[in-house]
Amino acid sequence: MKLSRKDFISIRDFSREELLSIIELCERQKPEARNFTLKPTHPGRVLACIFHKPSLRTRISFEVAMMQLGGNSLYLTDKEIGIGSREAPKDVGEVLSRYVDAIEIRTFDQKMVTDLAKYATVPVVNGLTDLLHPCQVLGDIFTIREKLGDIEGKKVVFVGDGNNVSRSWLNASTRFDFKFVLCSPPGYQISDSFIEEARKDGDCDFEWVEDPGEALNGADVVYSDVWASMGQEDEAKERVEKFRPYAVDDDMMAMANDSALFMHCLPAHRGLEVTDSVIDGRHSVVYDQAENRLHIQRAILALLIPVESDI
Ligand code: CP
Ligand code: NVA
Repeated sequence: MKLSRKDFISIRDFSREELLSIIELCERQKPEARNFTLKPTHPGRVLACIFHKPSLRTRISFEVAMMQLGGNSLYLTDKEIGIGSREAPKDVGEVLSRYVDAIEIRTFDQKMVTDLAKYATVPVVNGLTDLLHPCQVLGDIFTIREKLGDIEGKKVVFVGDGNNVSRSWLNASTRFDFKFVLCSPPGYQISDSFIEEARKDGDCDFEWVEDPGEALNGADVVYSDVWASMGQEDEAKERVEKFRPYAVDDDMMAMANDSALFMHCLPAHRGLEVTDSVIDGRHSVVYDQAENRLHIQRAILALLIPVESDI
């Protein structure tokens, strides 16, 4: 199966069928990777990993994924490259494409990723921007599928900010048939223009609900993330005040279905957006989510980076 796009920048770049083919490859290869029988389908291929923000999961999972495919990776920070300051995105994209077979980038501005993708002849994968975090959410959909079966018909409630992760959830709801609820204080919603654009691109069952009790009724997944994302550190104090009623604790989990999953992309601020008792409790699948970043990204890279053999 070949994907129709060179780059993985947004979940909305792909059809439901294409996203399912990534998930199915992920499902097939996860046990092989775990028992070291995975075929190294991409020998000699190199992934450049550019990071303008910190990372534990994304960096390690992309690097390990590439090793498991038989290739190599390079970790680059903006100090070395200076995209847009030392050098234009066009020149960076053109030059990197002469050395490596794919580029993963985590940065602030979504436009830097789209610019890089425009000029790079090799695949560019979005490892998080201020706007989106698509690999995270596709991995999370795989985790839900492992734990609860198909996401179709489920209710996913994101308790927190209208941020990069929740926007990617909204995008996913245009491709898969599930209900997505953002439960946030007023002023921290997903913008109307983003919602409108997403709706134009596909039907979605999306709702913003201010009250956690109302939002969590019938929830199959309770999802949490930091209240101040990377780059919003200056707003952290003000946000703590506004978001305090949205801390996911045992009482809040009791409002969801008894079988509900607690999910968090991590890193988590224990004691702020989630209590220890929830993140370490019976509903939590946060470490499976973290592991699945590796498996989903390996599938994304395997399908994007061209090789002669069948995957
Ligand atoms: N969830 C996630 O992207 O984690 P990192 O910021 O550690 O990469
Ligand atoms: N919304 C968070 C996600 C971290 C993986 C951030 O952007 O910092």
